[in-house]
Amino acid sequence: MEILDGKKVSNQIKEEITVEVAQMKARGEKVPHLAAVLVGNDGASLTYVGSKVRSCKKIGFESTLIHLPEETTEEDLLKQVHELNNDPNIDGYIVQLPLPKHIDEEKVLMAVDPDKDVDGFHPTNFGKMALDMETFISATPFGIMELLKRYNVETEGKHTVVIGRSHIVGRPISILMSQKGNPGNSTVTLAHSRTKNLKELTLQADIVISALGVPKFLKADMVKDGVTVIDVGITRVPDETSSKGYYITGDVDFENVSKKAAYITPVPGGVGPMTIAMLLKNTLLARERHNA
Ligand code: GUN
Repeated sequence: MEILDGKKVSNQIKEEITVEVAQMKARGEKVPHLAAVLVGNDGASLTYVGSKVRSCKKIGFESTLIHLPEETTEEDLLKQVHELNNDPNIDGYIVQLPLPKHIDEEKVLMAVDPDKDVDGFHPTNFGKMALDMETFISATPFGIMELLKRYNVETEGKHTVVIGRSHIVGRPISILMSQKGNPGNSTVTLAHSRTKNLKELTLQADIVISALGVPKFLKADMVKDGVTVIDVGITRVPDETSSKGYYITGDVDFENVSKKAAYITPVPGGVGPMTIAMLLKNTLLARERHNA
């Protein structure tokens, strides 16, 4: 069994980007600038956005955090989005999800300039991804593809079962894994909450990608020997004995599934850090495209 070490690979990617940024600086060019908009005080979102901004500083990017109060109106958020679209200093930005319930998420994401949409959530970018065109691929599926690539995990002709059909992970990764290329060329089954006999499907899978958000959902008796398991779940489970008051767990019963797996991602330290690295990579791409 080999651990797909997202922490290690994400650090490599960040080092590669650091070198490119230093070269940009040495040439007297503007360095990439990422902005993040956070509405409200959701604990997990605060952690993620904080981590994204800290990573920017470490690798030499400029970053701006725009933290708006929970009661921000949709109109005011849309105004902020338009300002970012028109700010020539900002190469790319994200609006952290989820947004408060009184704001129409779709409306906000549609307002983001696709050329600055480093999350790859705009329909223009999602559509380009589905058509194999150059675009911004969403950070989480992009990170999974990069992890498979850097560990040379064979995907061609393999049966990949994706669990979860979210717009951010399940749906796009099912498209990417079926596309021509390496990684890719996989035969994909996209399973979701209405799927019957999920276990029958996962038992046939060479690769299982779980993006469900249910702690320890994937058990050892649901996978075959030699499976590759990608765990996208990040759930905070309340725990009074921990200083943070919770611990983080994935969708996979790691202790038992890892005994049967050829490759497996841990949680934490698997897909999570890759997501941040790929967001930075997209921001670098945005800067380079704006230069071109
Ligand atoms: N919420 C959970 N994951 C993400 C992400 O990748 N981007 C944004 N903007 N919000 C998220």
